[in-house]
Amino acid sequence: MSHFVGELSAVIATALFIFALNWMNDPKTARRGVIAGVTGMTVAVLATWVQPEIIHHGWIVAAIAAGFVVGVPLSRVPLTAVPQRTALSHAFGGLAAGLVGTAEFFLWTGETGGGGGGAHLTHFRLSALFIEVILGFLTFTGSLMAAGKLQEVRWIPQRPVTYPGQNFVNVGVLAIAVALGVLLVVNPTAPWARQAFIAIAVLALIFGILLIIPIGGADMPTVISILNAYAGLAAVAMGFVLDSKLLVTAGALDGSSGLILSIIMCRAMNRSFTNVLFGAFGKAQPALPAGEQKVWKQETVEGASQLLEQARNVVIIPGYGMAVAQAQHKVRELYDALTKRGVTVKFAIHPVAGRMPGHMNVLLAEANIPYSALVEMEEINPEMPQTDVALVLGANDVVNPAARYAKSTPIYGMPIIDADKAKTVLAVKRSKNPGFAGIDNELYVQDNTWMLFGDAKAVLSDLVKQFGSGGIH
Ligand code: TAP
Repeated sequence: MSHFVGELSAVIATALFIFALNWMNDPKTARRGVIAGVTGMTVAVLATWVQPEIIHHGWIVAAIAAGFVVGVPLSRVPLTAVPQRTALSHAFGGLAAGLVGTAEFFLWTGETGGGGGGAHLTHFRLSALFIEVILGFLTFTGSLMAAGKLQEVRWIPQRPVTYPGQNFVNVGVLAIAVALGVLLVVNPTAPWARQAFIAIAVLALIFGILLIIPIGGADMPTVISILNAYAGLAAVAMGFVLDSKLLVTAGALDGSSGLILSIIMCRAMNRSFTNVLFGAFGKAQPALPAGEQKVWKQETVEGASQLLEQARNVVIIPGYGMAVAQAQHKVRELYDALTKRGVTVKFAIHPVAGRMPGHMNVLLAEANIPYSALVEMEEINPEMPQTDVALVLGANDVVNPAARYAKSTPIYGMPIIDADKAKTVLAVKRSKNPGFAGIDNELYVQDNTWMLFGDAKAVLSDLVKQFGSGGIH
């Protein structure tokens, strides 16, 4: 009976996880997706709890209480800290997988003297166990490092730390751990087995740190989703070790969604996995070759509001600067002011604008901007030549025309929003400094571009005031 309940719950929980992922694809159904995910996890925990093998209910209660103690404060972090919060969740998942694998190994090898532990020591199960332990522990330290870099923890360098032969050292550490794992799969009861196991765990912990130190702080979101994929794979391996179909399917869903997200992010940034992991991105890039010196033309708030007022259609292109300035609510006020005057306003959303997937969508949704006004890059680009004003709001790399032709730059080949093709461009940023990729942007010195220098929130505030004061006719 309890076997039937277990199997049925596994099917129900897995179905709920799949629906959760599907519903989270769209902001309209995202809430339902979260509820389905939470329900699936509750079913999974309860189904495990009622198994007859569970002999100590106190430990489960303690684990659930510990989960609440850590989880509730984690759910209250500000939106800007979501990437590091996500990294912490992966760290916990990795640690859990690593610890479960460790416990199983010591239980099995401890029992072999006279107990039934030897039955567990098949090549398949042991291989799964070492994959679980290596992936689990490297995900633990790697995710902690990534979270620390994003949180700008003082003693963790944010910039990539590189040295000659670094990739050789990294691959070497992992190779020794894997080689020891293979030796143990073949000979799990050797007198040196326990010491070798501890060495594998320590090497995996070290590898997680080594993997992350050469990566630049701002590249962490991609790495975090790669670590998400590792945590999922560790859970799959743990499912095979514990003979839990639910863990295998849940881990596979987790791992594959992390992998798909990493691929989407890498593609949108025109980077490869190897480039993200070994490319030490985030280092200063050489500027584009200086051609004919072009001038930056500045516009006043009055002039800019006149341009906007006279426009029939405006496309706002938000970027990382809007997030830094927390200007989304002012954007909403500008949107209201313009639409009230009959101007059609759309938002062009680049897949890697900002610093995390969906960064712009989340901020604009927070300011209650109608979702129908948000248009994906592929859909808005054909409309750009007919756009009267493109308002570039703290975006830089995602509108840099150099991506189309400048082979020496890290953004070469990245699809961009064609802001340069609009009839007039208004660009808001604080200085002449480059964006994330560290390269100049000719959009700002184009003939039809006007700069509005200043903090995005302050500039928008002035623009909205200008509209409100009736200064425009
Ligand atoms: P960026 O290229 O980083 O440019 C942001 C611009 O905002 C800067 O030029 C900066 O200029 C301006 N800015 C900063 N603070 C501001 C403020 N308070 N007010 C006004 N302007 C401000 O941003 P983007 O165009 O969104 O591109 C994103 C970049 O990040 C891409 O290269 C992408 O590959 C990378 N990336 C994205 C992700 C994800 S998942 N989204 C993950 C990792 C990396 P000033 O300093 O002159 O103000």
